[in-house]
Amino acid sequence: MGRLDGKVAIISGGARGQGAAEARLFAKEGARVVFGDIRDDEGRQVEAEIQELGGDAVYVHLDVTSEADWQRVVRDTIDRYGRLDILVNNAAIIIPRVGIEDRSGDDWDRVFEVNAKGVFLGTKHSIPAMRDSGGGSIVNISSVAGIGQAYHQEPAYAASKGAVRIFSKVTAAQHAKDGIRCNSVHPGPIDTEMLATAFADEEAKAERLKRVPMQRMGSADEIAKGVLYLASDDSSYVTGSELVIDGGAISM
Ligand SMILES: NC(=O)c1ccc[n+]([C@@H]2O[C@H](COP(=O)([O-])OP(=O)(O)OC[C@H]3O[C@@H](n4cnc5c(N)ncnc54)[C@H](O)[C@@H]3O)[C@@H](O)[C@H]2O)c1
Repeated sequence: MGRLDGKVAIISGGARGQGAAEARLFAKEGARVVFGDIRDDEGRQVEAEIQELGGDAVYVHLDVTSEADWQRVVRDTIDRYGRLDILVNNAAIIIPRVGIEDRSGDDWDRVFEVNAKGVFLGTKHSIPAMRDSGGGSIVNISSVAGIGQAYHQEPAYAASKGAVRIFSKVTAAQHAKDGIRCNSVHPGPIDTEMLATAFADEEAKAERLKRVPMQRMGSADEIAKGVLYLASDDSSYVTGSELVIDGGAISM
């Protein structure tokens, strides 16, 4: 028996990295998974891999900044599977770090458009479908950057992840009445393509690891296991909370 048997999940940013790991794990645990991204070729490859293993997963084009895309994806999910139980707002971007004085307003807006507005739009359009399904679980991927370790963070990225953190609590507080839970996950440095963008060279990466007590990066699978807990009924009394998965980074 899978931990997500009978459940239907939407995952954003699922073509690679943590989102792909979550799509694989959710399908393995019995969920029917709709996962979206703007990287269509990579997304279809992940879809084929999951289906080959017998999982029920479908890749869709989803730009999280597009309200029309979210409306289409939620509608198609309901048409296909008849319900929506889980939303993982995972898609995000990072940009190379510069100081506040050197960051352009356009860059700031671009980061917020994807990382913060994308989470809002996904939540907005999933709530009615979840309510109609009798409730659900929303898991928003923030970061340790949304809590602290501020000295090392890219300013716009960190602020957008702080927005995700508090937006999760607002969602939890205002939609408990609908049977909808909402929690945030706060990964430390995780070995994905995103980290390669954030830390251009080995020296920068080594510097970052000095602030991780476990002295290593985490894997996408280690995050997916935490997301699975929050998505599943194992966390039935957990809402508005923060799950930090970071090798101890936030404690430094
Ligand atoms: N890697 C880390 O060190 C780290 C640390 C803390 C938090 N996070 C967070 O974890 C989540 C997953 O990141 P990852 O590490 O897997 O990075 P990643 O770059 O491998 O994956 C992010 C995915 O989001 C997709 N995406 C970007 N813009 C999109 C858009 N407009 N619409 C739809 N999809 C879009 C990308 O195409 C990509 O597939 C993100 O929210 C990220 O901020 C990552």
